[in-house]
Amino acid sequence: MTSVNVDPSGDHLTLNTANSAHRFHAIWLRDNAGDAETRASGNGQRLIALRDIPRDTRIGSADLKGATLEVRFEPEGKVVDYELDWLDAHSYDDTSSPPRGWTAPGVELWDAGLMRDVPTGDLAELSRDSGALRHWLEQVNRFGFGKLVNGPVEEGAVFKIVDLFGYVRETNYGRHFEVRTQVNPTNLAYTGLGLQAHTDNPYRDPVPTVQVLYCLESSAAGGENMVVDGFAAARRLRDENEDYFNVLADHCARFEYAGDTGVCLTSRRPMIELAPDGELVAVRFNNRSMAAVTDVPFDKMATYYAAYRCLGEIIDDEAMEVTFRLAPGEAFVVDNTRVLHARKGYSGEGTRWLQGCYADKDGLRSTYDAMCRAQKREAAE
Ligand code: FE2
Repeated sequence: MTSVNVDPSGDHLTLNTANSAHRFHAIWLRDNAGDAETRASGNGQRLIALRDIPRDTRIGSADLKGATLEVRFEPEGKVVDYELDWLDAHSYDDTSSPPRGWTAPGVELWDAGLMRDVPTGDLAELSRDSGALRHWLEQVNRFGFGKLVNGPVEEGAVFKIVDLFGYVRETNYGRHFEVRTQVNPTNLAYTGLGLQAHTDNPYRDPVPTVQVLYCLESSAAGGENMVVDGFAAARRLRDENEDYFNVLADHCARFEYAGDTGVCLTSRRPMIELAPDGELVAVRFNNRSMAAVTDVPFDKMATYYAAYRCLGEIIDDEAMEVTFRLAPGEAFVVDNTRVLHARKGYSGEGTRWLQGCYADKDGLRSTYDAMCRAQKREAAE
């Protein structure tokens, strides 16, 4: 049985259901009113600013009417209806405080165990079946990467992947970049070396949040792609040594790329980035483009370097990595704010040709969320 109590001050009300009690402030409710004078009926954008709401707004009365809560605000004398489902979904009366490094619902951390079930979509199917696309995007959001198979072996096919969910992010490297490797006995010593797993372009601010790599040729043995969950690595660091986690989260690293004429990209951001409430929101890790770190106090620099080394050792641990081969016509997408990628070493001669490009995660999430909302609407009709 649902009931509502208004605090005598009018400052807030409490909505009681069978197993919960959620408080809502008068000012919060008034600001989030959904009536036609407050919100545009078409696009849902707010039509008023906070300055249009009286500073001394309070709840005059609140009454339950079926699945609706009717609230009267004073001194405006304005009456606004709220759906109980909406209030339940937007409750903020939660006193729990999760530990630093918590991750959002829907994010699932992984290690090498995910190798048994690499999230994979069939490009031909995703292009014609919105249910399959929605499922694949959900996997990319959940795990921070996804593989695609059954694409065409043609130049520019990398853009077909981006077309599934968003837009290319052009950089000084162009709309796309080429990754060509000739592997032969004379350069095997060089190309045979794998790269350490990294996130791309931490010297950009903001970083490109999605990277797509599309395979067009692959005849050299070895050279598998490898991905590591940076969130899982950061959490493992926290669990092994909280001081190490904190020193990397609390101080900015510096990154730089000035390798081309007319380009000087610099950034000042932490390797482990947390939201103000401790949510793990991004990892930046790239030994090649880290610049001199100057934002760590002298008495913490030794700890900082020990923590950086330890995070690198966790990232290099094979128990953390998922590897897979890309055949021509196959591709993978990574959330570049979370998942590190690398190429393993080669063991034979041949060629490898990939085309890559960047895109943005907000577009990917928008496409996924819009598909979910559309599906819910259809289910309700
Ligand atoms: Fe890279």
